[in-house]
Amino acid sequence: MMHIDLAVLAFTQDKREPLSVEDWIPFLSPVIAMGSKGAKFHKRMRLAIYTLRLPGSRLYIVNDTSLIPVLQRQVRTLSISPIMVRIFSHFMGVSRPALDIMGRDPVEDHGFVHEITLETVKGLAPGLNLDDLNSKAVSILNASLEHAPSRVKIFQWASHEIMMATTSAVYGPQNPFNDPAVRAAYYKLEGGLLTLVTGFLPSLLAKEALKARRVITEAFLKYYAENGLGNGASVYARNRYHYPISLGVPVEDVARMEAGGSLGLISNTMPATFWTLYHIFSDPVVLKDCREEVKRPSARERGGSTVLIRSTVQHSSPTAWSQDVDEFHHDRFIKQANKAKNNPVAFRAFGGGATLCPGRHFASTEILAFASIILLRFDIKPVTGSWSTEFYKETNAAFRVPNCEIDVQLIPRDTRKWHMFFSEPGKPMEISTEDTSLAFKEA
Ligand code: HEM
Repeated sequence: MMHIDLAVLAFTQDKREPLSVEDWIPFLSPVIAMGSKGAKFHKRMRLAIYTLRLPGSRLYIVNDTSLIPVLQRQVRTLSISPIMVRIFSHFMGVSRPALDIMGRDPVEDHGFVHEITLETVKGLAPGLNLDDLNSKAVSILNASLEHAPSRVKIFQWASHEIMMATTSAVYGPQNPFNDPAVRAAYYKLEGGLLTLVTGFLPSLLAKEALKARRVITEAFLKYYAENGLGNGASVYARNRYHYPISLGVPVEDVARMEAGGSLGLISNTMPATFWTLYHIFSDPVVLKDCREEVKRPSARERGGSTVLIRSTVQHSSPTAWSQDVDEFHHDRFIKQANKAKNNPVAFRAFGGGATLCPGRHFASTEILAFASIILLRFDIKPVTGSWSTEFYKETNAAFRVPNCEIDVQLIPRDTRKWHMFFSEPGKPMEISTEDTSLAFKEA
């Protein structure tokens, strides 16, 4: 049996393909290796590019930073669209008739996946729509700090604050996430993400996640039926409803798509907010520098400096980030005349190329604004005196989360009231390679 497997493996591996690795038990050992070693598996692999032969599919892993721009130009050959169609069906559970529309011509410009991405991007690109989202989210965060409790579990608290600000800015006052049952269901759905996407016995192995998906879907259906979109919802939320409806996608399936899509809004934003606050307040040097920065009348040169924590191969590459890659430097992304420039291609927190996160400006602005308001208004001190998170654990989302909570005191620095306003509306931040090249073109 083993010999047949080996023969199949050898016969179906083209010479032009990258070297197949970890194939000592054909089709199974890569799964075992990735499952047992987790994120460390790819980090330890010393090859620039290699193939993992999985049951029924191949994974090409690219570790060499210099290959990334070449790959990103292959927008059709390396399209994300077929994966999106799988996410619609397996993760979001859209119906067969809806899938016929949503899965049509997946790699073509007129296909649903491409068009819905354009509609989504319109709502999030720098300009009036993004300004509207940012000003709403930041006002909500600022107002909430007026009534901040004096003692909180910081991961839970920061996650809740940013979840409510993000979803309320997107969906308006009738935000389905106002309902605690929806918030609880969100975490269950997120926990079942991988099991649902694989599609292996979901009704048995992801029972809770399926129940949670129904709760969130029902909440979105109610929201649409009660005209939540007509009551202060963002262009992003409205476009993601109107485009599928215009093609004949049933409203139940639009609700399923949005229930699943809510993960994109907050799954990364929540841990990114926590780590931003953690790194600022746990280190007196960082705290001092950041406070001075936000007190300055024009604090503009901080783009992207918050999203440093990610365990991908690129983010741990000494070639891309220098030998101190494993240390946290709050000024790593700040441009300085005497400092060598980082290779922007190696920054992958928001993806890149055709799958670049359209929410990066929104997420970065609201997280930085939240951190800035807290810096100005509060001191944060751990109740036990220790900032230890007992390391961290990997999650389904791109970000690590702390292994344990930290009880902290939120100590108001004075009794002043703070009003937020944006001094330079419509201005994009340089976050990814694509933004950087845009800035070069504009200059
Ligand atoms: C720190 C916060 C965030 C991080 C780190 C992040 C990261 C990412 C990444 C890596 C991708 C690409 C996934 C892939 O390669 O397929 C992505 C896609 C996406 N993100 Fe984000 N994201 C964040 C916040 C947001 C927010 C706040 C929104 C919306 C308001 C958003 C909307 C989206 C959408 C719609 C896509 C899919 C784009 C497509 O299919 O082309 N993200 N995000």
